[in-house]
Amino acid sequence: MKRTATIAMGVVVGLAAMWWAGACESSGDADAEAYAAANAARGGTMYDNWVVTTGLATPAGNHPLWASRPDTTSNTRTGLDTWRCKECHGWDYRGVDGAYGDGSHRTGFPGILNTTMTHREVFDLLKNPASTTPNGHAFGAAGLSDAELWNLTRFVFEGPLDTSAFINAAGDYLGDVARGQALFTGGVRGALSCESCHGADGLTPPPGAPAGWTDFPGFIANDNPREFQHKVRFGQPGAPAMPANFANGISIQETADLGAFVQTLPES
Ligand code: HEC
Ligand code: HEC
Repeated sequence: MKRTATIAMGVVVGLAAMWWAGACESSGDADAEAYAAANAARGGTMYDNWVVTTGLATPAGNHPLWASRPDTTSNTRTGLDTWRCKECHGWDYRGVDGAYGDGSHRTGFPGILNTTMTHREVFDLLKNPASTTPNGHAFGAAGLSDAELWNLTRFVFEGPLDTSAFINAAGDYLGDVARGQALFTGGVRGALSCESCHGADGLTPPPGAPAGWTDFPGFIANDNPREFQHKVRFGQPGAPAMPANFANGISIQETADLGAFVQTLPES
């Protein structure tokens, strides 16, 4: 009797071990499949403003991590701004080590460039609250589906560039103006040209822009060159007609050339 029970136990333990191994394997496979199906370009517009991209409601109050920013005096924003990835991690993805290291956007939070976390760790960090995952971002409770969280996760690994490779410390694009003009007027890799919506000098309000719109390409490229490269690569939240050239395979050189040309355009 005793002996039988021991053998039965052994079988149960063995079956449980097999089930566990199988479950682990299939959850790894499921992660790989979800990652492969994710849209990093959409994740890039969500990094800019996920509320506008998804149409979800703006969560109440400030982002739960906002109160713990190392510098609570420089950046006094509240509400939706505190929920935007770019507000804590920057347009250069380098947080306090980049352009948001000083000025009115400084939070003291670090960047995400070249993270050493795994896909699953980033997914869990974005989804879960800080009560279950250290620094958990609570975007699951804010309404983001798992598919949208995978879009963001894939962006984290494939979207961010080291902008210092093509924008110098003074904010100048290190590209070729003539080649950039050809991209502006001819389109990047077959996409609709910038000129067709923004005009040859960038001062034509694009279709759907509200009256009094002043975020002209020449203005953004000079005022905030690191923001400009993000808009060129991922498009503008809420303006789906503007191409996400990341999805078209825009190269770093093409991004640099386009930026160098657009910095020569009038700002207003
Ligand atoms: C309110 C500020 C805030 C917002 C908004 C925010 N984060 Fe974070 N993020 C943090 C903090 C704090 C950490 C932890 C930093 C640390 O390890 O000290 C972090 C860490 C990360 C990391 C891990 C980086 C690493 O390798 O350690 C990733 C990836 C990340 N965030 C992505 C995002 C994405 C994507 C979004 C938008 C969907 C976002 N974050 C929005 C504050 C923020
Ligand atoms: C199909 C039309 C279209 C094309 C093509 C297009 N854009 Fe746009 N762009 C828009 C619209 C629409 C907006 C948003 C207007 C608004 O805020 O309502 C916009 C916004 C912008 C902004 C402002 C972002 C901000 O910070 O508010 C910049 C910069 C910009 N576009 C640059 C470019 C460049 C450079 C190209 C070419 C690589 C380009 N656009 C191609 C339609 C287009």
